[in-house]
Order: sequence, then structure tokens, then C-alpha cells
Amino acid sequence: MEAVIDSQKSVDEFNRLKKQIHQKLVSRLNLARINTMDDFEIRRELRLGINELLRNERNLVTKEEREQLCEEIIDETLGLGPIESLMSDSTVSDVLINGPNNVYVERKGKLEKTNVRFHDNEHLIEIIKRVASRMGRRLDESCPMVDARMSNGSRVNAVINPLAIDGALVSIRLFPASPLEASDLITKSALMPQMMHFLGACVKAGMNILVSGGTGSGKTTLLNVLSSFIPKDQRITTIEDAAELRLQQEHVARMETRPANLEGKGEVTTRDLIKNALRMRPDRIIVGECRGGEAFDMLQAMMTGHEGSLATIHANHARDALSRLEMLVGMSGMDLPLWFIQKQIASAINIVVQCRRLKGGQRKVVQISEVVGIDNGNYMMHDVMSFEQRGVNDQGNPIGDFRSHGIMPHCLDKLRESGIELPTSYFDGRVFTLERPEINRRQGILT
Ligand SMILES: Nc1ncnc2c1ncn2[C@@H]1O[C@H](COP(=O)(O)OP(=O)(O)OP(=O)(O)O)[C@@H](O)[C@H]1O
Ligand SMILES: [Mg+2]
Repeated sequence: MEAVIDSQKSVDEFNRLKKQIHQKLVSRLNLARINTMDDFEIRRELRLGINELLRNERNLVTKEEREQLCEEIIDETLGLGPIESLMSDSTVSDVLINGPNNVYVERKGKLEKTNVRFHDNEHLIEIIKRVASRMGRRLDESCPMVDARMSNGSRVNAVINPLAIDGALVSIRLFPASPLEASDLITKSALMPQMMHFLGACVKAGMNILVSGGTGSGKTTLLNVLSSFIPKDQRITTIEDAAELRLQQEHVARMETRPANLEGKGEVTTRDLIKNALRMRPDRIIVGECRGGEAFDMLQAMMTGHEGSLATIHANHARDALSRLEMLVGMSGMDLPLWFIQKQIASAINIVVQCRRLKGGQRKVVQISEVVGIDNGNYMMHDVMSFEQRGVNDQGNPIGDFRSHGIMPHCLDKLRESGIELPTSYFDGRVFTLERPEINRRQGILT
């Protein structure tokens, strides 16, 4: 708005007029018809309507002001109002709203407060309700919490009163136009080429891999990258709450869970979809996030002909990921003794990759651990590679080394059976450096 209107008085006048015209426009909207029209047609009709309402307004004289008003009102009516421009900003990864006056964005791993504001809490709630209703979801006092995926793929969670105390809380994870690839993760120092090469080889050879990490630590991004190493001739099924994965392969059967409808019926859970996936003859099953009793079915699938399956889980350490899996299997309603659950986990899961969002915002793969068995209730697992932080630099970003630990992974045998031979230098306990061009040339790391 600054570009066109400079004084505060004009800004206030502009906002007053915008609100007034928006209200008049909304009162005239034929919602039933809108749902049958495409975005282009809707925008054209709204533009005509706004210009008609503006005809009686003498306060706004310039063509630019009219244009701007028109765009902003259309955004208010159709889209996300004040946050529309943040949503289309490619440098923004998350938009986080704590009530009408506190809108934050995450850029490059760091949170920034913006000067975007909603008129009031009702304005904010009106916009979230519109997003929710477009997704066939309801948001009101009796149902004050909602998860939805917008048509552009972005994931939204909203909580309103009476649960949200100081105004509505909205968290939006934007869907990047193009997802990060293996080479991007290396360029961003999330991991070293040697680590990517090892993980890619594990995927190709059919190891079952659990990607673990806290919220927003880069799990889904890594899962997407890892899935790119699945051979093209295999049938993959993906199961997600909100479809975020973008696999490169052609042969992918994608499924998404469904929440209950307004009458509380028709829910389809991750667990239902895993059971169904088993009847679809998949070679690999990818579970976007394992967070409930489906852990049991996933382990069964991993042990019965769907080797090379991948899933993410919320945990802060590779070892904790396995304990969490135990707990989730416990939620399956099957009355299984702990020793049995542990035995299943130890034989189903081969590799745990731990992601972490470090202080300063950088996301890294901090541990690649191999699970080799269970001994007296303790998982036998070791770090194959990890990131060891030594401190932070002037910008608050972590300094440290990626390294191996002098342990030859047991899975190398399985990799060899698949015809994959990795350099022993990857595992001899040294710190990884990028100054080893022979690795790139000879091994073709990012095929
Ligand atoms: N290595 C990385 N470097 C920079 N940005 C990254 C990296 N990995 C992921 N991101 C970005 O961080 C954000 C969060 O990533 P992602 O969705 O993969 O995390 P997540 O752990 O799956 O989150 P959630 O717990 O919410 O599901 C995304 O915007 C993604 O593009
Ligand atoms: Mg995720």
C-alpha cells in the first residue's frame, strides 16, 4: 500500500473505503454460483462489481488507487486477505498468526514479525472459516480446531476461541513451488555427499528407513529426497494426512487420509490406508507420518515383502524414535507384550535418520543410525554418520563436522547383494570434507 498512498490519513481513508466496499460486495455475493465458476470468471465479475460500487466514491481519484483497492478487495473476498502476499512470497516457508495483530513468517529458518494486520479477530476468523469451508471443513465454537490443505497444497492448522485465548491461532506451512532435491540439501549443508550417497544406496537396496525429527525439522523434505532413489520399476504407494510428497517416479499410487465429515462420519485413517495398500501389490510403502496405531501395521508391512519402506516419526533422537514407535504400536489396540513389540521393531527398522532444526534455523541430518538387533530390552544400534556441533559462528549458525564413526554398517552386505559397493573411507571414522572431488567423479553420487 505504501507505494501508492503515503500519508496516514489517506491510509485510514483507503482502509475505511475498502472495508465498506468489501462489506457491500459480500452482502451481494451469490455463493451458490461462485462454487460453479473458475477463479478467472469470479475475479472478472468481482472487478465489475467493485468498479460499480466505486463509481459513487469521489475520494479515490487516481487509477492506481482504484486498481489497488480492487485487487485488495478481491483478495479479501476470495483469498486470504492481508496474508495473500505472504502466501505468494517464495522466500517464506511458514506463516504463523497469533491473533489479528501478530503475523510472523519464517524465512531461511528464522522467524520474523511482519507488519501485516487483520482489522480485528472477527476479520481473521472470517478468512480462516472461508479457507476451511472451501476444504469442506467446519470451524466454529463447537469445532474450534481444524487441519486443512489448501488448493495450492499448503497445510493449514487453525484454532479459534474458546480454545485460543488471545485471538485465533493459524499456522500455515507453505508448499514450495519446487521441492528441495538431494543436491539442494547438500548445498545447504544439511548433510554431506557421502551421507546422501549412503542413504541413497540404502533406499535402492531396500532398507526400511525411519526419518525422525521435531516439528519442521525437514523430515518430509528428506523423505521426498530419499524416495527419489527408489528404482523406477517399482510400484510405490504413498499414504499421507496431507499430500506433500512429490515423487519423481511414474508408478506411484497416492492416497490421503480423510477426516470425519460434519456429522462425524466417513473418517479414513492412515491405518485404514496401510491395510488397504497391502491389497494393492506395492513394492514400497511410504507413510508420510507415523503417529498412531498404524505403527503396528506399518511394521508388519515392512517385514512382509515391502522392504524398502519409508516413514517419518516425531522424536528428538534416533533411539527415542524407536521408543516412540513402541508407544505407537501400543496404541494399535493389540495386546502385545513389550518384548515382542521390540523384537518386531528391531527386525523391521534398519536405519533411523535424525533431522534437526538447529539454533539459528539451519536444518541438518544430525544422525544416521543403524539398528542391528535387540538385547535384553535395549536396542542394539550405532551411529554410522553424524553431525557434531562445536559451537556457533557470528551469525548464530552452527559450526561443526559431519563424520563417520569407524563402524562398518551391517547393511553393507545387503547393499553388496544389490550390486552397490561403497568406499570403505565413508565409514572409517574420519571427518567428511567436500575437498574430495574423486568421490563425485567416480561414484556419481547424485544419479
Ligand atoms: N535442509 C534444509 N534446508 C533448508 N530448508 C529446509 C531444509 N529441509 C527442509 N527445509 C524447509 O523447512 C520447512 C519444513 O520442512 P519439512 O516440511 O520437511 O519439515 P517436517 O519436519 O516434515 O515438518 P512437520 O513436522 O511440520 O511435518 C519447509 O519449508 C522446507 O522447505
Ligand atoms: Mg512433515
